[in-house]
Amino acid sequence: MFQFLLYFLCFLPLSKPFTVIMSDSDVPSVLVDGPQTGFSMNTNGARTDPAEQEAVYDIMRATGNDWATDIPDVCRGRWHGIECMPDKDNVFHIVSLSFGALSDDTAFPTCDPTRSYISPSITKLPHLRTLFFYRCLTHNPQPITSFLGRLGPSLQTLVLRENGHVGHVPTELGNLTRLRVLDLHNNNLNGSIPVSLNRITGLWSLDLSGNRLTGSIPGLSSPVLSIINLSQNLLTGSIPPSISTCSSLIKIDLSRNQLTGSIHDSINGLKDLTLVDLSYNRLSGPLPGSLRSLTSLQALILKGNPMGSHTIPSNAFENMRSLMILVLSNMNLHGPIPSSLGNIPNLRVLHLDGNRLNGSVPASFRELKNLSELRLNDNSLTGQVPFGREMVWRMRRKLRLYNNSGLCFGANSGLEDYLDSSFSSGIGLCDMPKPASARTVQHVFVAKTDMTGSEKVSTNSVHNFSVSVNLLLLIFSTIILVSL
Ligand SMILES: *[C@@H]1O[C@H](CO)[C@@H](O)[C@H](O)[C@H]1NC(C)=O
Ligand SMILES: *[C@@H]1O[C@H](CO)[C@@H](O)[C@H](O)[C@H]1NC(C)=O
Ligand SMILES: *[C@@H]1O[C@H](CO)[C@@H](O)[C@H](O)[C@H]1NC(C)=O
Ligand SMILES: *[C@@H]1O[C@H](CO)[C@@H](O)[C@H](O)[C@H]1NC(C)=O
Ligand SMILES: *[C@@H]1O[C@H](CO)[C@@H](O)[C@H](O)[C@H]1NC(C)=O
Ligand SMILES: *[C@@H]1O[C@H](CO)[C@@H](O)[C@H](O)[C@H]1NC(C)=O
Ligand SMILES: *[C@@H]1O[C@H](CO)[C@@H](O)[C@H](O)[C@H]1NC(C)=O
Repeated sequence: MFQFLLYFLCFLPLSKPFTVIMSDSDVPSVLVDGPQTGFSMNTNGARTDPAEQEAVYDIMRATGNDWATDIPDVCRGRWHGIECMPDKDNVFHIVSLSFGALSDDTAFPTCDPTRSYISPSITKLPHLRTLFFYRCLTHNPQPITSFLGRLGPSLQTLVLRENGHVGHVPTELGNLTRLRVLDLHNNNLNGSIPVSLNRITGLWSLDLSGNRLTGSIPGLSSPVLSIINLSQNLLTGSIPPSISTCSSLIKIDLSRNQLTGSIHDSINGLKDLTLVDLSYNRLSGPLPGSLRSLTSLQALILKGNPMGSHTIPSNAFENMRSLMILVLSNMNLHGPIPSSLGNIPNLRVLHLDGNRLNGSVPASFRELKNLSELRLNDNSLTGQVPFGREMVWRMRRKLRLYNNSGLCFGANSGLEDYLDSSFSSGIGLCDMPKPASARTVQHVFVAKTDMTGSEKVSTNSVHNFSVSVNLLLLIFSTIILVSL
């Protein structure tokens, strides 16, 4: 959150005493473009459009913000959460409204969560580009009103995040053909994703995650769609093949649904993909060989899809020079771990646990210089663990080897210090020296003393790598990008 705040503060000129005046370069607008300082303009007598002012009063009253009705000119009201732009006649129009206590530092008006609603007067704001509601209607659950669809061609950003909405996603939202960001994250929406959303050809980011949406994912064909997050719903059916036509996709998160079918080879056309999370679905195998042409991919998370007995293709991840996170846990994979996995230069997180992998851990794993987290537990691996002391110390408790009955470590590998830890329990020394139990104890003791010192050093250097992206950060960068 802190990181997000910093980000937010960098981009939103909160220090300005007045509303942020935005421009929209690619659209001819009746509004005057370019940065303006609201107050200096106002000394020339600019006033808010009276009809829009009345609409804002209605909207503010509907959210329990009656104080706003005392403000004689809302565009001069000095509250964060309203943004205005003048037209050539020096009349201000409302271009953005935001509500919700995002943090202590973003002073958008808060809503009375027990009685707030979105006023239909919102449709009387013909210049509105951004509408942002965060946790506003939480104790007064309501459907998303279809009249929002009447915000027609002006609206570019619609965020109704954790806002307590129930019922369906209205088909009418498909009328918002200028929309770039649609975020309905964490509501209680049910029903299916309306096909009409396909009409929004300029959609850049779609987040419907954390709802109870059912049915299948409609065909997608937006050439500019960059981020799609439908995670944590009840979606069924297969991943639509048309997703491969969304050539600008950067992130796909369809995790935690009930999707079936296999991953199409055509995914290899999406050259800009950096994140693919399809975890916890019911996808079937095999892993498409074409994944390896995704040379920008940084994170591939497929865990929790019992793919049906398949092996990891020996060259599946060749050339994936950007790959940092590979998570293939609990996928019913069997056979050997391909040694090519040791050739992914930037790999930091590798989870292969909970499969039926057998054979030995490839010696090439020694080359994974950036690996800080390795899970091989709950497989049928055998033989000597190939890493040295340095690698074991780097990963420490993020190295999980337990429940591989045939796995052992060499003397002096550093692993002996973890003999009693649950992360590698059951793993013993290979070729335990016969009569020298006393000497072994001595050796372990020395290694432990040695290690306390090194552990301190490495604590600072281990990368703290988080798979999940701070979504708020994303949305805000989107809003800001869209606005500029
Ligand atoms: C969706 O939710 C609404 C309100 O919670 C409920 O009345 C309706 O029956 C639900 N519809 C479906 C298809 O589950
Ligand atoms: C909005 O969309 C609905 C259904 O998607 C359609 O019936 C209606 O005519 C549209 N309204 C406008 C004003 O475009
Ligand atoms: C490992 O990470 C560092 C930065 O964290 C990077 O400079 C380096 O190229 C990466 N790859 C290898 C193979 O060390
Ligand atoms: C791995 O298991 C398969 C059967 O699933 C077997 O054919 C193969 O020989 C095993 N390989 C090793 C190295 O144990
Ligand atoms: C060990 O791992 C296998 C999967 O390879 C799993 O089925 C089994 O339950 C695990 N055993 C224990 C004791 O966790
Ligand atoms: C690393 O992440 C953990 C939680 O995953 C957190 O508790 C810790 O403060 C983080 N450390 C740094 C340096 O960010
Ligand atoms: C998608 O949304 C979920 C929450 O619903 C979040 O945890 C996840 O990080 C999001 N994915 C991406 C790629 O931002």
